[in-house]
Amino acid sequence: MEKRHDMKKKLILISIPVFLSGFAAFAQTDIAATPPMGWMTWNMFGGDINGFLLREMADAMVASGMADAEYEYIIIDDLWQGERDSSGVLQPDPAKFPRGMKSLADYVHERGLKLGIYSDAAVHTCAGATGSYGYEEVDARTWAVWGIDYVKYDYCGAPAAADLAFIRYKRMSDALKATGRPILFAVCEWGVRKPWLWAADAGGHIWRMSWDIRDTWDHGRFDAGHAGIVNILDRMPGLEACAGPGRWNDPDMLVAGLQGRGQSSNANGAAGCSVTEYEAQMSLWCLLSAPLIASCDLRNMDADTKRILTNPEAIAIDQDPLGRQAARVYQADGIEVWKKALIDDETAIGVLNRADTAREVTLSWRDLALSGIQKIRDVWLHRRLGITDSVYTLTVQPHQVRLLVLEPDPE
Ligand code: GLA
Repeated sequence: MEKRHDMKKKLILISIPVFLSGFAAFAQTDIAATPPMGWMTWNMFGGDINGFLLREMADAMVASGMADAEYEYIIIDDLWQGERDSSGVLQPDPAKFPRGMKSLADYVHERGLKLGIYSDAAVHTCAGATGSYGYEEVDARTWAVWGIDYVKYDYCGAPAAADLAFIRYKRMSDALKATGRPILFAVCEWGVRKPWLWAADAGGHIWRMSWDIRDTWDHGRFDAGHAGIVNILDRMPGLEACAGPGRWNDPDMLVAGLQGRGQSSNANGAAGCSVTEYEAQMSLWCLLSAPLIASCDLRNMDADTKRILTNPEAIAIDQDPLGRQAARVYQADGIEVWKKALIDDETAIGVLNRADTAREVTLSWRDLALSGIQKIRDVWLHRRLGITDSVYTLTVQPHQVRLLVLEPDPE
């Protein structure tokens, strides 16, 4: 794990002189070389946000240990906006952000964190606030001046066709690049137009491939108001070829810690998950090289929520520098096996039990296309389980993911 963190640091160090050297000279893959990690307002707070809350969340990101675990973006979602002034510059809602956005960005940066913001490729956002259509260059410049590091760009009210979506996203991405500030660009059109095929070319570093996640394990269906953890998971197989450093499929936020209290995430009967299910989502999202964007109230996380969100061994799988999204390599009778190649010939394996009874599962190296002796480490138990060159049997509880790292033994 140390190794992977060292590599990430190295990538960051290499990137600094590149983007300091001149206007927009940074390579786009330096942004999101590994999946971004942070926290976003929407699931928990919806539109009930303000500068004071955001400052508290930045403080909590540091005090809770989340920042040490490498979470860095504090992302303001919809409903921060006020009106455009006479020069067309969009102002924050003065009642919510009386000190403005620049001072908030400074506050966040002083704590070693980064600030994200939200807009939409149409006249209005999903929640009806002012969008950026027709003002892309003005808004990008405004955000760069404020010190924004991440832009989530939604698609409510915009035209249906994929080629028009491409144009609208590229226009904002070009405007962001033209500011010369490295800004992560998060495409959010919910997977409707197969963004995994075009969003990277439109300048996106990550793209949502699903509807908004709700705080539930299985919502029974998958549509704009219903998407539980496994409903989103089922959209991932096949998308692994489209992910890699600088370009990630985004299955939406981590729901650990919401416990049914979120404003948006509790829609349509989503009433929360068990601790096992929250842990399973973390395991799966790490296997999927997903952006790790927490969404619960960071100021009062319980011990399980902290344990789940900050597990360094799970995070190392997500942040592995190869950036290989896991593939589902086995699926039968409620059991799934997900496999992700890691650096140094290591392999992450997730065994998911979707059934309602505990199951014994025997992993076979031959079936997993692995060879030789492998040391088996359990990422949640933080210990070596065994060492073998053939098969390994483990028990998986209902809705649990057993998350393993296999390390070849040269002996
Ligand atoms: C859409 C997005 C959500 C959130 C809301 C805000 O639904 O998918 O993630 O940003 O808009 O209105």
